[in-house]
Amino acid sequence: MSSKNQLKTDDLRGENPRHVAIIMDGNGRWAKNQGKLRISGHKAGVKSVRRAVKFAVSHKLDALTLYAFSSENWNRPPQEVMALMELFVWVLDNEVKNLHKNNVRLRIIGDVTRFNARLQERIRRAEELTQQNNGLTLNIAANYGGRWDIIHGVRKIAEQVQDGLIRPDQIEEGTLCQHLCLNELTPVDLVIRTGGEHRISNFLLWQVAYAEFFFTDVLWPDFDEQVFEGALNAFAQRERRFGGAAPGGA
Ligand code: FPP
Repeated sequence: MSSKNQLKTDDLRGENPRHVAIIMDGNGRWAKNQGKLRISGHKAGVKSVRRAVKFAVSHKLDALTLYAFSSENWNRPPQEVMALMELFVWVLDNEVKNLHKNNVRLRIIGDVTRFNARLQERIRRAEELTQQNNGLTLNIAANYGGRWDIIHGVRKIAEQVQDGLIRPDQIEEGTLCQHLCLNELTPVDLVIRTGGEHRISNFLLWQVAYAEFFFTDVLWPDFDEQVFEGALNAFAQRERRFGGAAPGGA
């Protein structure tokens, strides 16, 4: 390996991630363990969201991306979907001022057009209020799916081809990147999934190409500063090669 590449991997070891994405799983099981309704688990999950955001701000992350509602979550019982929508409105009404005070820029990624008008309006107002903030960027993935994201981007490129703005042979990785969610942010360094499952569940499929993964059995409502710190420590031990060879490897 060249000394230039050696420097690159050494530089990347031991650092904090700049962009962390979290699959918040386990609210339902947490509620069941407590003999409560699933929605109590989601409410407890909001407290964990607050803790995680505070942690991300104090650790000076550039971006935190949270998977709150997937394109597939519409398949849940209608009462749960409705309760989640109410909870999102409640969170936007009650948390946005505090986020703004802490210089957090809030962005919602996903197809928000399927949400009711009240929720869409709250989202628009929250994004507008915080858009000039330059501290943490907090992305909430809502009605988001990695496949939706890619298809949405491909459609944009197809329109450009149709309009004669680019030729098919000019399409490169960067062409699609420009049309994907989070394209203007630092790449995702670390994906954390709580709740014991080891899968990506149609989260940021393209964007996590070189991310590190950290899985924990801790259920999302129990995710606290210690677990977050543990994930950062695990990340610091990883040697990121981005497809290159290990330093000193055969
Ligand atoms: C997964 O647990 C959790 C969700 C699908 C909803 C996440 C929502 C919140 C944490 C509250 C609101 C958050 C924001 C950012 C507004 P699950 O229900 O799949 O749990 P289970 O696997 O134990 O059933």
